[in-house]
Amino acid sequence: MPPNFRAIVPDDAADLVRLWRDAWTATYGPSLGQSTLLAMLKNLEQKGTASMLPGSGERGYCIASDHEIHGSAIFAERRGFAYLWGMYVHPGQQRKGLGSQLLHKVAGVIETAEKIEVRVLVTSPAAIVFYRKHGFTTTGNETIEILDSVEASALVMSTSVESLRA
Ligand SMILES: CC(C)(COP(=O)(O)OP(=O)(O)OC[C@H]1O[C@@H](n2cnc3c(N)ncnc32)[C@H](O)[C@@H]1OP(=O)(O)O)[C@@H](O)C(=O)NCCC(=O)NCCS
Repeated sequence: MPPNFRAIVPDDAADLVRLWRDAWTATYGPSLGQSTLLAMLKNLEQKGTASMLPGSGERGYCIASDHEIHGSAIFAERRGFAYLWGMYVHPGQQRKGLGSQLLHKVAGVIETAEKIEVRVLVTSPAAIVFYRKHGFTTTGNETIEILDSVEASALVMSTSVESLRA
């Protein structure tokens, strides 16, 4: 069975933690340094999915096969914008089109927002290329707090939801 796009459910918690641990280790170890990565993983271990996942009005989706979650995306719609985060494809499954599939499917389930916006670390060039490929343009620069007292520079990137649905 090909991987399936679906809403995240509570039973996915352990698989999501595994996906994020592996994706963060591959992405943020090299780019943010070992001590920041270890602090992020400790936070993930302690808080589990609550560190990333849906509070009120926030919606999480994944691409999954029967046995494994290959990718995740979380967004919240506020004042015409869908704010996207938690967009991760497992390192072993990258460059197979799953990230693109996730993004297009997310656009399909956005209810009212006209724009989709994401904050991408400047130290994540692959993700920047990925979003540019999907028509995102840079609208600003921000310093974001990754953890208590750990900050990083990010590009604010956005595109229209309509263009992702086309
Ligand atoms: C960014 C990410 C979600 C993309 O997922 P993916 O499934 O690998 O993406 P796709 O296979 O759909 O790639 C689509 C296109 O994006 C671009 N792209 C994706 N990964 C790339 C990379 N490592 N280097 C250069 N271009 C890349 C390419 O143009 C690619 O098309 P191609 O494979 O035909 O050349 C995934 O690489 C990831 O999880 N990265 C680590 C975490 C991260 O930085 N997430 C973003 C947080 S905002």
